[in-house]
Amino acid sequence: MKNNKKTFTLVPLLLTLLISFGLLYKFGERWLHLLLLYLSQADWARQIVSSLPMAKRVANRFVAGEDLDSAMATAQQLNNDGLLVTLDFLGESVSSQADAIAATNEILRLLDRIEATAVDANVSVKLSQLGLKVDPQLALDNMRQILTRAKQYNNKIRIDMEESAVTDQTLNIYRTLRDLDGFGHRVGIVIQSYLYRSEEDVQKLINEGAWVRLCKGAYAEPAEVAFPDKKHVDVNYVKLTQMMLDDPARANGVYLGVATHDEKMIQATLDFVTSNYIAPESFEFQMLYGIRRELQDRLVEKGYRMRVYVPYGTAWYPYFVRRLAERPANLWFFISNFIKS
Ligand code: FDA
Repeated sequence: MKNNKKTFTLVPLLLTLLISFGLLYKFGERWLHLLLLYLSQADWARQIVSSLPMAKRVANRFVAGEDLDSAMATAQQLNNDGLLVTLDFLGESVSSQADAIAATNEILRLLDRIEATAVDANVSVKLSQLGLKVDPQLALDNMRQILTRAKQYNNKIRIDMEESAVTDQTLNIYRTLRDLDGFGHRVGIVIQSYLYRSEEDVQKLINEGAWVRLCKGAYAEPAEVAFPDKKHVDVNYVKLTQMMLDDPARANGVYLGVATHDEKMIQATLDFVTSNYIAPESFEFQMLYGIRRELQDRLVEKGYRMRVYVPYGTAWYPYFVRRLAERPANLWFFISNFIKS
């Protein structure tokens, strides 16, 4: 009976994986990427995958653990190895005020623990985890509480950027907190090079002297708002990096986090800073926990700042599937574990 139930729940997942590989074979990586991004948001897939012990084991490659203790131990170890950290309590798109408040309380606890242990880490948050989709005012109020606690400890909070439907709301809340509430550089923002609008956003953020992380972007976006071709996303990434590292931007107070694992983007950044005599401490590289660790160490050895994004918590499913979408080889790893289990 138990086995029948297991087979029944695994059938849709196996079918999806087979269809994924069929699509990969027929249409190439782009379709697989889009399918996985769809699955990252699909509730039925979350329920199946989250219940598989094997999936949790594979997800552990990208997630520091399910609780605060595991996250702090990982952060401490990374600090010992010369890496800076940003901690992320996993969770997004909550649909009730109670869940938004629970997430806020966990992030406050996280800030308390960072202070108590003197780990060198700031915190990244998603506004949808704080209630953005329930009521933007709720997310703003929750962020205010978090930033007030961060200020007490002289720490900083980075607002992650989510799908393009919430870009304007995210930027508005960021600017309210930064300027009207006066949190200044205690609050940072993320820009995604796949969006057409990002060059204009970056120009404004340069004029405002903002604290910015630049990434390529991790969500499924239509061609009306985002470059469909990876080549153009990369060209834009280099352009936006150079705009924000250039003398006028830095003189205006911009501090850039170059968030990528792409060696081409990293080399372009290194070439630019070397030829323009930009000091290594005037910006930082950032990478995700569990990805390209050897490259992280190499950059630290060369004297650059490297910050690792360390997620923890039980809501790992969407984050994990976005990591699978970024690299098909990760999916092979997942499937081979699935077959072995
Ligand atoms: P790209 O995807 O071209 O990958 C380049 C190379 O890096 C690959 O060939 C592979 O070697 C390696 N690599 C990349 N992803 C991998 C993976 N999952 N597993 C194994 N190897 C991998 N996005 C967003 O929309 N909002 C946000 O707020 C953030 N925040 C953020 C913080 C930090 C610190 C990082 C590093 C990234 C983000 N992202 C993000 C995710 C980002 O948008 C993007 O999806 C990933 O970083 C992958 O893009 P790359 O720049 O690494 O290049």
